[in-house]
Amino acid sequence: MKKIYVLNGPNLNLLGKREPHVYGQASLQDLIQGLEKCAKELGIVISSYQSNHEGDIIDRLHEANEKKYEGVILNPGAFTHYSYAIRDAIAGIDIPVVEIHLSNVHARESFRRESVTAPVSIGQISGFGFYGYHMALHALLERIKGEQIHE
Ligand code: DQA
Repeated sequence: MKKIYVLNGPNLNLLGKREPHVYGQASLQDLIQGLEKCAKELGIVISSYQSNHEGDIIDRLHEANEKKYEGVILNPGAFTHYSYAIRDAIAGIDIPVVEIHLSNVHARESFRRESVTAPVSIGQISGFGFYGYHMALHALLERIKGEQIHE
């Protein structure tokens, strides 16, 4: 079975409580449960992890690569906007990474419009809430199957 790693960065453990007008009322656990259901239907197994620490996220990216996961769905949180170390980790591994944001980062404060991690990811999904993670699963599956993704 294909294995996908789902990695959520800083403050995403607070989903449901954190700025619910931006990120919604549902928790990280709700997000992962829904995604597990979607993955099962697609014949994929997911492992998920959340961390508030930059180095920890980097270690997990390396681990996903070493343990031969087929791809990573990564919400780097605010690290998106300035972590060159996470960018280098994505660039340094062999497996595809989809960058995901619950909110539409392009419709918010100007600092959120820049992503240092998107250029080394296979694509960015932003603004579709939890459904974006489902979209990312489908996108990774297509990439793994070797089908062309519009570039
Ligand atoms: C976020 C967007 C980031 O700008 C923010 O710092 C987050 C969450 C999102 O999912 O919309 O923590 O990645």
